[in-house]
This record gives sequence, structure tokens and C-alpha cells, in this order.
Amino acid sequence: MTATPTMTGQPDNSAGASGNKTSRATNPKIDKFIDQVDQLPPSPRLLIKLMELFEQPDQEIGEVVQLITYDPSYTAEILKQCNSVYFAGAEPVQDVSEAVARLGFAELHKIVTARFASQAILRPGHNSFVEGLWTHSAAVAVAAGVLAEPFEASALTAFTAGLLHEIGKVIMITADEASYVQAVQTSGIFKRPIYVTEKELFGFDHAEVGACLLQRWKLPPPIVVSVFHHHQLAGSEPCERLVAIIFLANVLAHHTGETFATVPKTLPGAAGAMDRLQTTQEKVFGMLPAMREALKKARALTRPPGGV
Ligand SMILES: [Fe+2]
Ligand SMILES: [Fe+2]
Repeated sequence: MTATPTMTGQPDNSAGASGNKTSRATNPKIDKFIDQVDQLPPSPRLLIKLMELFEQPDQEIGEVVQLITYDPSYTAEILKQCNSVYFAGAEPVQDVSEAVARLGFAELHKIVTARFASQAILRPGHNSFVEGLWTHSAAVAVAAGVLAEPFEASALTAFTAGLLHEIGKVIMITADEASYVQAVQTSGIFKRPIYVTEKELFGFDHAEVGACLLQRWKLPPPIVVSVFHHHQLAGSEPCERLVAIIFLANVLAHHTGETFATVPKTLPGAAGAMDRLQTTQEKVFGMLPAMREALKKARALTRPPGGV
């Protein structure tokens, strides 16, 4: 993937308190491609507003509660998760304000992110394809969240970027199913990475499409950059740590059966990411048990609606 022509390094304070510089995904061809999708997933307004609030030093619980109560479907999901998963067996919470107080902002953020991402990825049609994507995305999100802590990145940002890193594939198959199925088949036959075949057939790949969409939605720049670079580390400064985490989480999910149960002999292509994180394969494998545990805990958030 040739990443740089569509991304230009720009100082941008919209990353919030982190003060990160960012890159901007600007490609009129991709914009036009996204425009032709009949039913784009809805913009994650609640998630973005919550992320802005979470960045503030004095987070006001009242503001968070007010935001959530505007959306009945999120209200129902938060109460359900709080009563049936996080505090099952305890006195049930009656309203959002009690739920937010009990859950804390980090868990609340995860519930909102998972609900939004599942709606964006599990689009009607292409069922087995998007379900596979969702399982993979959930594994990458969990692995990225675990990797973030020792490597001093935000676990919530890593979790969010992990859940959304393949969103471009959903847009591509929705926009042009026949060509995308051809890309998948060609990749399989010639054993080439899908992003290489996408680039040949479409002129761009799913990482570029996903980043363009997330930028339209105004997600924080580090998330946009991580999605753009999840197959290509070069040019990812100044977000290279987060990018390396998502890159590594992606490779790990692919080589451990999405459950972190299989310990592979090697992690093909991950040397650059491990170098950037100044870690080793042994240390990364040492985190697999924590990833298995985190995946179990996240199951209620990440299973498809109606799934087990
Ligand atoms: Fe990908
Ligand atoms: Fe992936």
C-alpha cells in the first residue's frame, strides 16, 4: 500500500488533551466512492461527544448522562449491560445516572463503542463476511487494549481503533459487491494480501477507505491514522506507537485464531511494529493469557446481537 499521497502531516489540536499531530485522509476518489453507498452507517455522534467529554480534566457526570439519555437505544443497552453483565446479581440500577456512576467512564466508553461499531460493521446482507469481520475486529480491539497498557498508550483509543480498523471493507463490499468478491477470491487464489488486490481493482484499499470515513465522522485523528496505517507502518508519525499497537494486534489476531489460544511460532511481518514498541516476540506472547482473559470479559460486548 502506498500510504503517503493521501495523508499530509498537519498540526491538529483536535486530538484533544493528547495534543497529537495528525494526518488527514483526503482523497476525492475515495470520497466519491463512499458517496455512492446507499446506506452508510450512521455517524457516531454520541461516541464522539463522549470522547470529547472524557478528554476534559473535570468530567461532569451530569453532561454524560444527559448525552446518553437523548438516545433511547444506547440508554437501553447501557442499562442492560450494567444489570446483566457488570453487576449481575447486585441490586439492579434504575436509570442511566446510576449506571454511569457504577460503571465508570472507561466501561461506559467501551459499551458505547462496541454498540456503535457492531451497528456499523454488521450491516444487513453479506452476513458471513461481516460476521467474520466483527469477530476479527473484536479480537484486534481486545489485543490492542491489552497491548496499550505496557506500551503507555490509551487503552480506550486502542480498543476503539481496533474495533473500527476494518470498517473500510464493509464500505467496499456494500458499494460494489461483485468487484469486492472478486478481490477476495483473487487474493485467496494468488495468496496475496487483500489490500494489494483491492488496490489493483479499485485503485485504493480498505485502510484508506476506512480512514476517509472515520475522518468524515470526525473521530479523533490518532484513530483515523491508526486505521489508515494498520497494514503499513511507514509514515505513521506522530502516532507511530498507537499504529504499531493496532498493527501488532491485527497480526496477533490473525495468527492465534482470533482467540489468542494458538501460540504461533512466529509473527510474520510484525518485526517493525515490535521494534517501534521496543519489545520482543516472547514478551508479546507473554501477554496472550491477559488477552484471553480480556476477550472473555468483553464477550458480552462483542458478540453479535442474537449470538451466543
Ligand atoms: Fe485490514
Ligand atoms: Fe484486520
